[in-house]
Amino acid sequence: MEYIQFNNGLSLPVLGYGTLHIPPKDTKRCILEALQCGYRLIDTAASYFNEKEIGEAIRESGIPRNEIFIASKVWVQDAGYENTLKAFQTSLDKLQVDYLDLYLIHQPYSDYYGSWRALEELYQAGKIKAIGICNFSKERFVDLYLNSKILPMINQIEIHPFYQQDETIALMKNYDCQIQAWGPLNEGQREIFDNPVLKTISQKHQKSISQVILRWHLQKGIMMIPKTVHQERMEENINIFDFMLDDEDLSEIRKLDIGYSEIIDHQCYTTAKWLNKYKIHD
Ligand SMILES: NC(=O)c1ccc[n+]([C@@H]2O[C@H](COP(=O)([O-])OP(=O)(O)OC[C@H]3O[C@@H](n4cnc5c(N)ncnc54)[C@H](OP(=O)(O)O)[C@@H]3O)[C@@H](O)[C@H]2O)c1
Repeated sequence: MEYIQFNNGLSLPVLGYGTLHIPPKDTKRCILEALQCGYRLIDTAASYFNEKEIGEAIRESGIPRNEIFIASKVWVQDAGYENTLKAFQTSLDKLQVDYLDLYLIHQPYSDYYGSWRALEELYQAGKIKAIGICNFSKERFVDLYLNSKILPMINQIEIHPFYQQDETIALMKNYDCQIQAWGPLNEGQREIFDNPVLKTISQKHQKSISQVILRWHLQKGIMMIPKTVHQERMEENINIFDFMLDDEDLSEIRKLDIGYSEIIDHQCYTTAKWLNKYKIHD
């Protein structure tokens, strides 16, 4: 495993395990298998409805708490100072832990400034080791940065060969903010696992297409959290540290960028409407 250092000195594994769409009934098995494969960073969120099972699996694994990095997120419905403090405690209770390694604002909507004040306070109290955001565009990020006491340490955004976001990455790095790719495999869409360019590169290196994509993230200095419910794929996805993509590979992958997301459009007002309406509790 390789590690990425945040602007507060904390180091986190560059590659973690994503848990979106893993139903509660499968979560415990998946987490135990992921830990067995060597994953030590687990990404969840209040809105994934699997924090309780993740907590149970971590306890059952017997791996000391301080060897596992747990990330969770506050949902839009819980935006604002007071609500975020409450949501954070709910996540801790479900996960059965007394601190989080990473706590993120899930979406750039509603009163996220109030949420950020709560995150700053929890960070200063030692309840969160690192704080950050997700899905923040360049201008929202800079505005938050300029109005924060504690600077965002990470922005988790969609990145994969079809949506490379080079400008956003460059800007974040300029502000000493790390980037973590969600959907690093484009959620399997646009036939990514059959893409001819990626297939040629994978054959050249005797690696799978998934390994080529994840290695591409690694060489860009981006953290990533691929999700799979299959143990053989968990193993495949973590085994990316023994080969190098060369300049020719990188320039071929660069050409795959279509420049926009086919999964979600955070610039569109209907996304703001939809996510503000989406409730995860009464
Ligand atoms: N902050 C946010 O707004 C946000 C948004 C989305 C996701 N996330 C986080 O990012 C994580 C990753 O993103 P994601 O789950 O959306 O998508 P992803 O990791 O890009 O792709 C997951 C898909 O790829 C398949 N897959 C994984 N490894 C594979 C392999 N080696 N070969 C073939 N297929 C493979 C999985 O299928 P199987 O499971 O069937 O193997 C699943 O369908 C999430 O789980 C979540 O933790 C955050």
